[in-house]
Amino acid sequence: MNAKVSAASTNSKRVNKSAIQPRRMDFRFDPDMPRYWFDGDQFKTVLLTALSCTFPEGERFFVRSVRHYQPTLKSEQLKEEVKGFIGQEAHHGNEHEVFNALMQKKGIPTRKVEEFVYKGIRWQEKRMSPERRLAKTCALEHFTAMLAEVMLENPDFLKGMHKDMLPLWMWHAVEESEHKSVAFDVYQEQVGDYWTRTSEMALTTVEFIGFTIFHYFQLRAEMDDTRDWKSIAKGWNWLLGSPGFLRKLGPAYLAYYKRDFHPAKRDKRHLREKGLQTLASLLKRPELLGAAA
Ligand SMILES: [Fe+2]
Ligand SMILES: [Fe+2]
Repeated sequence: MNAKVSAASTNSKRVNKSAIQPRRMDFRFDPDMPRYWFDGDQFKTVLLTALSCTFPEGERFFVRSVRHYQPTLKSEQLKEEVKGFIGQEAHHGNEHEVFNALMQKKGIPTRKVEEFVYKGIRWQEKRMSPERRLAKTCALEHFTAMLAEVMLENPDFLKGMHKDMLPLWMWHAVEESEHKSVAFDVYQEQVGDYWTRTSEMALTTVEFIGFTIFHYFQLRAEMDDTRDWKSIAKGWNWLLGSPGFLRKLGPAYLAYYKRDFHPAKRDKRHLREKGLQTLASLLKRPELLGAAA
């Protein structure tokens, strides 16, 4: 295992009074890892790298959107959960930046996409109300939680992933599932408007799918090898055909439009516990098991 953690990261002290505790990782990825770290596959590697390029600034946007409401929060429990949410998202952004920098060195132009995402989010953010920013955060948190739970539920999804990459995605997936209700609860307490929440989800769906595909092409445009059509065909089948991981998200996605939707209704605690066990054994850090939420 080359994904190492620093001594400081073994410190598991609680930083807020909720079940949502940030876990510091400080991954050190093997610089000799192959460029196509996901099953040796061009499509799957570039697609997940495209997603990773959106994480650093995307997650900072989530933090700013939620933080806006911190001073007016009423629920003491939620105040603590928000602290946990902010801590977890801050760590995710930092770790994905390290990973993205490694991909840049391997000839996948992540810096360009990170800068594009940074400018795009800042541009959009200035033009949105705090309510819309929070509704967009809830929508994107629903996407990240669904994707995270697909990873946790289907060990096959991560099959063939390089051993240094597995802990990064597993850790992120566990914590996305853990804090999936926080932004939503802030929204329900502070805004609560059904139309704003669902119309923002509809808009965000188009943006999320459109920009993920666009970032994929941005990355591929400056890479020095030829397009692997076989990998693309296999990849689309992997997402939409058989096993069709994306296709299977349909019901969970549509549930968001119900008036009584709540992220916690999809109880995935057992998956998080399993994910943490895998993570603890991959990293040889048994103390991670004590931090299950
Ligand atoms: Fe995150
Ligand atoms: Fe999140």
